Amino acid sequence: MTTDLTPMRPRCEYLTNPLGIDIARPRLSWTLESARRAQRQSAYQILVAADEESLRAGAGDLWDSGRVESGQSVHVDYAGPAPRSGQRCWWAVRVWDQDDAVSPYSAPSWWEMGLLDPADWGDTAWIGLDTMSDDPPGDPDLPGLVPSPYLRRTFTLTKPVRRARLYATARGLYEARLNGQRVGDALLTSGWTDYTTRIQYQTYDVTTLLRDGENALSAILGTGWYAGYLGFAGQYGLYGTRPQLLARLHIEYDDGATETIVSDDAWRAATGPILYSDFLMGESYDARAELPGWDAPGYDDAAWTPVAVTDRDATPLVADRAEPVRVVHETPPLAITRLDDGTFIVDMGQNMVGWVRLRVAGAAETRVRLRFAEMLDAGGALYTENLRTARQTDTYILKGDGEEIFEPRFTFHGFRYVEVTGYPGDLTPDAIMGRVVGSDTLAVGTFECSSALVNQLQRNIEWGQRGNFLSVPTDCPQRDERLGWMGDAQIFARTASCNADVAAFFTKWLADVADAQAPAGAFPDIAPLLALRGTDLSHGAPAWGDAGVIVPWTLYQVYGDTRILTQYYEGMARWLTYLEAANPDGLWRHARGNDFGDWLALDGDDPSKAFGSRTPKDLLATAYYAYDARLMSRVARALGRAEDAARYGALFDTIKAAFRRAYVSDDGRIAGATQTGYVLALHMDLLPGDLRAAAADRLVETIRDRGWRLTTGFVGVGYLLPVLTETGHADVAYRLLLNETYPSWGYSIRQGATTIWERWDGWTAEGGFEDPGMNSFNHYSLGSVGEWLYRYVAGIDVDPARPGYDHILIRPCPSGGVTHARATYDSIRGRIVSAWRVEDGAFSLHVTIPANTTATVYLPTSNIAAVTEAGAPLKDVEGVEALRVEAGRVVLAVGSGAYDFRCAMT
Ligand code: BGC
Repeated sequence: MTTDLTPMRPRCEYLTNPLGIDIARPRLSWTLESARRAQRQSAYQILVAADEESLRAGAGDLWDSGRVESGQSVHVDYAGPAPRSGQRCWWAVRVWDQDDAVSPYSAPSWWEMGLLDPADWGDTAWIGLDTMSDDPPGDPDLPGLVPSPYLRRTFTLTKPVRRARLYATARGLYEARLNGQRVGDALLTSGWTDYTTRIQYQTYDVTTLLRDGENALSAILGTGWYAGYLGFAGQYGLYGTRPQLLARLHIEYDDGATETIVSDDAWRAATGPILYSDFLMGESYDARAELPGWDAPGYDDAAWTPVAVTDRDATPLVADRAEPVRVVHETPPLAITRLDDGTFIVDMGQNMVGWVRLRVAGAAETRVRLRFAEMLDAGGALYTENLRTARQTDTYILKGDGEEIFEPRFTFHGFRYVEVTGYPGDLTPDAIMGRVVGSDTLAVGTFECSSALVNQLQRNIEWGQRGNFLSVPTDCPQRDERLGWMGDAQIFARTASCNADVAAFFTKWLADVADAQAPAGAFPDIAPLLALRGTDLSHGAPAWGDAGVIVPWTLYQVYGDTRILTQYYEGMARWLTYLEAANPDGLWRHARGNDFGDWLALDGDDPSKAFGSRTPKDLLATAYYAYDARLMSRVARALGRAEDAARYGALFDTIKAAFRRAYVSDDGRIAGATQTGYVLALHMDLLPGDLRAAAADRLVETIRDRGWRLTTGFVGVGYLLPVLTETGHADVAYRLLLNETYPSWGYSIRQGATTIWERWDGWTAEGGFEDPGMNSFNHYSLGSVGEWLYRYVAGIDVDPARPGYDHILIRPCPSGGVTHARATYDSIRGRIVSAWRVEDGAFSLHVTIPANTTATVYLPTSNIAAVTEAGAPLKDVEGVEALRVEAGRVVLAVGSGAYDFRCAMT
């Protein structure tokens, strides 16, 4: 008997067919689809084979799980013998449904191991340019700008090649090339880690790039995070000063023999057209200095110099485990204006991250300069003050032979406008293309509703995420900063997961967080860690350090990932021990490091300051301390550590009691009386049950007293609308959402924002620009409202008791005059849809629940009898069971499938 229950989207460690992983027991996941309702997987069988043919023949020669009676469809541990370095493992899965009917096997998928043992790198050495001068080629004021090294070597192949892999990394950035072709499409590799602690390498299948006879393997290097400008105020070389390449080409011949070509003293080096290419400063490219054919066989490199060789040290080389940075989108210009002096201002129509590709024809030596900025000033010129010391300037010097195309390599800019100076002739729209660059995480969510303003907000959140998820989650992509601020990341992580599959991305980043944890247990404020001179990057600021607990917890909730909890449990526990030791009385009064408080809140006491917070910093800290303890007790429970769960539960109770004594009055008033104070106390469950409603009323009062406006900063904003909704004030939440006056999300949109701004008032018609010392127009933190759109407006949520959307809550919350909303979400278990509409007092809801999951659906009526599904009364509907009426809502238990409910709203 066969079933239509079909395994789809087979993934290994969150990725489709990952090439070069170093996880000994990779986890396999699939989604399930079926046209029928209430479908469950009752069993599965996984085959893993050493080659595709065996797999197709039904042989699991590496591992045959046999039939496993289980509904598990995500994170199934591979349990065969440990694969060896470079081994490709082919796999397929089949499933049985609840009637014991079996599906066909899924199409063959694979994963391939990277280099698992440091010894696999053999005599591969770091190589770079020996003769790099300290004289800046571009600018004497910017000594960090150095020319990009071009490296090459040749080798000869005389036998047919069966397969070839290139394992490559750089201290800095590299673009590898083989026989004149770019290897792969990943950009800004090797990506950002604390290079003193771990370095990622990438694996490429280069079999088809090789050829008989002479071959040329080559690379261009950039300074990037390793050696270029990064962080504040003109700092560069924060990990090292000279970029270096490490590469190992492994060739397997048809006859079984193998050969390796490695980075070593056989390579030669030169500088070429890239005078410099730097993240903050931009790229300068002199096309006259191009080296035609340099990356192909047959090139005469006699004038090149031997490379500088450095032996490998013990720094671990780890396989890159997340999606690479790529060009993820192209966007043509919206408008081009020619100024009187012949300069062009190009409006890309969207604040974006990346660069532009320019087409140009003109005389040799013509110098075209591109400057990038987020905004224009009142006179229509580029506004660059808020970039601080970042120059974001690309220069292209023409070689003068017909049409030339310029696209930079090792830089990225945050911008909406491009100023083009020196362009020969008229700059037409077809000569310029916006190239949007970011970590290529899969888009998994869509949200739209009846409010155009909210739809723009959703787009702004997505664009903020796209540009700031670039190898690591950063605060901003434009000014001299671009750092992995932990507070920003933790408050936005859940929203990020609604828009894109960020499982692999954050899994990689959590290694950066762990690397940066202080020996005493404090998590950092920034990860990856870097040694910024003269800046106190101490550890453990409340709501920043706590990302070390909150982000793993979020991955567990969203993806059901218990391995991440196991892996980081000890580090999370050390953080709690560190806090406990410094704060034995339950209030986080000591060891608060940089203590940012409710960053950029608007309820400070000093009216001369544009921002400030009255939320007592020890209160905010204590709330987070309690939250950590609560999450740790849940983490411990999820891992079956009952004793720890009880201990952290007791710690939570202690902190909660201390919080109550220190900050809460008998009438539910909270010290400081700020929105963030109330929000944290309510969200983190720090109030006795009988004071929750009173505190929520006070929260609403503070909003009302501000003319129904919010005042929260980074820390309070993410929980504000969820807390209002949870406490019965959805109308107030919608009011804040739909506000268009300052301060609100709508206000920035009314000012033309196409991304989320760092500040509520980055630019105002009355006041112009805010303080350029800190005024980014692309900062995702205040976009943490996004999760509320998915979880509360559309109402798609995970049941915390059954993480990873094993059981789904569909709890739409229509209010605020919004007449329809629709979200789709490709969860780890498949697509979920919630789409509702209010029309003539009737509420209709379309729901899609993936096969092998179940849902609880809440409808805004108390009359079960009047609920219909596709026109039929509920009792006649397969897959639906009416459970109860709860707080004025009908609650239904639903199996997988698509449903159309309808009821009168009560
Ligand atoms: C960053 C923030 C960060 C903060 C710490 C700022 O400079 O841009 O996003 O969280 O510093 O308070």
